[in-house]
Amino acid sequence: MPVPFILDTDTAQDDCIAIIVGMLDPEAELRAITMVAGNVGFEQQVKNAHLTLNALDRLGEVPIHLGCTQPMIVPWVSAENVHGTGTGRLDMDFTGVSHEQEHAVDALIRITAEDPGEISIVAIGPLTNIATAAVKDPGFPKRVKHLVIMGGSNNGRGNITAAAEFNFYVDPHAAKKVFEAGFEQITVIPWAPLTLNDAVFGRDRIAAIGEQGTVLSKFFVEVTRATLEFDERVGIPGSTHPDSLAVATLIHPDLVVKASDYHVAVESESPLTRGYAAMSWGVHGLEPNARVVEKVDGERFYAYIKALFATETRPTRPFTAGLE
Ligand code: BDR
Ligand code: CA
Repeated sequence: MPVPFILDTDTAQDDCIAIIVGMLDPEAELRAITMVAGNVGFEQQVKNAHLTLNALDRLGEVPIHLGCTQPMIVPWVSAENVHGTGTGRLDMDFTGVSHEQEHAVDALIRITAEDPGEISIVAIGPLTNIATAAVKDPGFPKRVKHLVIMGGSNNGRGNITAAAEFNFYVDPHAAKKVFEAGFEQITVIPWAPLTLNDAVFGRDRIAAIGEQGTVLSKFFVEVTRATLEFDERVGIPGSTHPDSLAVATLIHPDLVVKASDYHVAVESESPLTRGYAAMSWGVHGLEPNARVVEKVDGERFYAYIKALFATETRPTRPFTAGLE
């Protein structure tokens, strides 16, 4: 039985890869894409989602719901310095391409109410939509089967500041709220050390994906280019793939080699440590509220992504730039 889930995303770079994983893996059933303010300008994120579905030749096949365009309290912070547009030079004619009228928060509430206890959510952007759904409908958290969150670092280094990972930094109040909201099952895919150890694709790996010669493999190379260059400048030996890893581990939990229970709490008030995730490992008298992934089979994850991107597709709308 395919795993039904909603992908909550700030679509740029690895978020695009995560959408493709959700659409292509036969064991995944992507019910909806919900969009949240994060990586790049909101309109660009929506375009990135459509560009991604076009690369699959599946425009319009999954509903896209637009959600919160600002964090709950603090102003939005962009990661355009990391991602550029989030899809490189890719462009197409967007005439007639549309999204749902229903707000993402209402879609999250409705879809989980239609199938209580059956729908999982993979949240790969700031947690604004998820927290807002929990505030609007206090029954929402208990209806979600499994919430997989990409965010935080496991008592390790951040990326946007020394203390904080981007998704938790952008909306620390939402992240704090989500860990206190009473979700039945939360899994965290952290930035450090997990992503940096097991989900970095260096130039050799990216070239091997590109050499497969499919539209999707060329798409992969183009959307990861800006991040690859940024990462190398800051000492990371490749592009980073925590968002697609989050989807992959929901669909294939056996990719996880090690995970442990933690009490996760997010700092929202301190300017110095805004968005810091304190992950307490069971010796401080705090009840666990999440399972944190500590190690995955990185070789298998890379092989899985490479195989999916070998799939042949024929986009109905030609890309007008970026795929030459
Ligand atoms: C996270 O921030 C974003 O830039 C990525 O898409 C990922 O979700 C990593 O810190
Ligand atoms: Ca993301």
